[in-house]
Amino acid sequence: MPAPILAIANQKGGVGKTTTSINLAACMAAAGKRVLLVDLDPQANATSGVGLEKLEGGSLYAPLLGEGTALERVKPTAFDRLSVIPSEVDLCGVELELGRFEDRLSRLRALLAPVCGGGDFDLVVLDCPPALGLLTLNALAAADHLLVPLQCEYYALEGISTIRRLFDQLREGGVNPRLNLLGVAMTMFDGRTRLSQQVVAEVREHFGDLVFPTVIPRTTRLAEAPSFGKPILHYDPYSAASAAYELLAAEVLKRLGF
Ligand SMILES: Nc1ncnc2c1ncn2[C@@H]1O[C@H](COP(=O)(O)OP(=O)(O)O)[C@@H](O)[C@H]1O
Ligand SMILES: [Mg+2]
Repeated sequence: MPAPILAIANQKGGVGKTTTSINLAACMAAAGKRVLLVDLDPQANATSGVGLEKLEGGSLYAPLLGEGTALERVKPTAFDRLSVIPSEVDLCGVELELGRFEDRLSRLRALLAPVCGGGDFDLVVLDCPPALGLLTLNALAAADHLLVPLQCEYYALEGISTIRRLFDQLREGGVNPRLNLLGVAMTMFDGRTRLSQQVVAEVREHFGDLVFPTVIPRTTRLAEAPSFGKPILHYDPYSAASAAYELLAAEVLKRLGF
């Protein structure tokens, strides 16, 4: 069985995609899975968040345009079983350059196939950029599963219909008929406000059991950790945020059938 690919996507910025990608990947690695985190955002926050420098020529930029393989871009991290394919600013340019390829939607899938089938990883996590450009579309075309993070704020549900429509189009249009909506993860929950509770209730009403039971709290520890190049599990292992991501990771692994 090739390693499943889980895309973390939402076209909105600042909803917790990168934080969720880093911390889920780290918690699943700590739980014994060999995890490859692929940073597809030119901002490279997932790359620095697991302690790697942006490295010129280190991203999937060249491989996506036909030069080199994904496997040779894989870098180890300081954390057991967690590897990463870093990003760099160059990745911006890919959006434009991919346009000229007829197979522009399936290039990432083709690159990742030997990585998933090679037996080195149990799971691949894709951190997507905050837009529905070609990089995100490539991620959704390559993925087996989609996890959508939603921030606990007033406009949480805004834009979700866009994702739903895109999801249906990708499946029904034949780009990726196997794509599975694994779940919706609520992030930045502030238990002191009624708003957070109302938003979670509203999202649960809309999505039912698709919403993961574990909700990620808003805490400054999660915002600080990336500047130390550490997932929360290694930065502040006994914090509520670390416990929350460990629980969410267990729920994700269960839904993935591990
Ligand atoms: N649960 C949280 N509590 C506090 N800050 C958070 C939390 N999740 C994310 N952040 C912060 O919010 C900002 C946006 O999060 P990020 O994961 O980068 O979102 P995205 O990748 O969707 O743009 C970052 O500065 C991040 O550190
Ligand atoms: Mg991000």
